[in-house]
Amino acid sequence: MEFVEVRDLVKKFGEFAAVNDISFNVKRGEIFGILGPNGAGKTTTLNIMIGLLKATSGSVFINGLDISRHGTELKQLIGLMTQETVVEADLTARQNLELFAKLYHLSKSETDERVAEALKEAQLTEFADKKAGTFSGGMQRRLLLVKTLIHEPKLLILDEPTTGLDIQNRAQMWSHIRHLHSLGITTILTTQYLEEADALCDRLAIIDHGKIIAMGTNSEIKRIVGENILEVVTEEKFAQKVSVIVKEVSGVAPEIKADKVTANIKKDPLGTIRRISDALNKNKIPVLAISMHLPTLDDVFMKLTGSTIRDETGEMKNSRAQMRFR
Ligand SMILES: Nc1ncnc2c1ncn2[C@@H]1O[C@H](COP(=O)(O)OP(=O)(O)OP(=O)(O)O)[C@@H](O)[C@H]1O
Ligand SMILES: [Mg+2]
Repeated sequence: MEFVEVRDLVKKFGEFAAVNDISFNVKRGEIFGILGPNGAGKTTTLNIMIGLLKATSGSVFINGLDISRHGTELKQLIGLMTQETVVEADLTARQNLELFAKLYHLSKSETDERVAEALKEAQLTEFADKKAGTFSGGMQRRLLLVKTLIHEPKLLILDEPTTGLDIQNRAQMWSHIRHLHSLGITTILTTQYLEEADALCDRLAIIDHGKIIAMGTNSEIKRIVGENILEVVTEEKFAQKVSVIVKEVSGVAPEIKADKVTANIKKDPLGTIRRISDALNKNKIPVLAISMHLPTLDDVFMKLTGSTIRDETGEMKNSRAQMRFR
């Protein structure tokens, strides 16, 4: 049995299925990602997994134990950072951690030791006795992460750990998660960011409308789309013409989206792009850009859901609405 097994999970709110038959396994030591847009069912799935919410049907086993029957035992094994978790603003960083240590019944000496370690790990030692409410968003999130780790859980569950963080703090969070990975901690995280899933996760499930639409390693998922993606950007009125030429040269039927023509090129990408540019040139078709790239998770989303997503890294500080996939 795998470390985490989620089987045929369904959660209905009235008639609406927020989670609609989700199954996946997570191996010990893995970072497993659940990638999906707002409202896809990520938090609902996690809440069922940790016993906060009761599934309509299906089951979750962690370390061989059924969460619906062994919630108390499993609590010790799991560290959860929820999407909305906030620090206790009026308490210092140290007090925030001590409070949590108390919840897990750590002894005084254990508490002292782990709190000191946690502060160090979060690079907050020099701010230990400052009120957490005065911390920047990144500092608060670092404090929350080490708080989640205070009882040394074997399974770390992070619901959108970097949403709302700027690039620098996000990078710091990533390296922290990677460090925990190197220590052998199993992590399940949700994210709306393609590049986060790409950068961090050993395997991931892409979910949309409560269903898994793709699952595997990054490269397995990307192979759904193909090997090499040709993209020609032209003036919209020429897109059809470009498409015909691409088809003639490559033998592949392209897709047109406004001013973009894309095709999945399987053979001889270099020769193909050269022949296509020559043909476009000969036919005097304006080409604003032409490129060949390996598929991205964005391409996968496009293929599977019909809608594009662009993870604008620079927009991290903006509202969630702007980060929606559709
Ligand atoms: N208690 C509830 N009652 C009714 N509907 C709910 C409830 N909780 C969640 N939903 C609905 O279920 C769907 C999935 O919600 P969920 O919070 O799991 O999505 P999510 O993927 O975590 O989204 P986000 O990225 O915004 O956090 C949404 O349409 C949401 O409105
Ligand atoms: Mg959520």
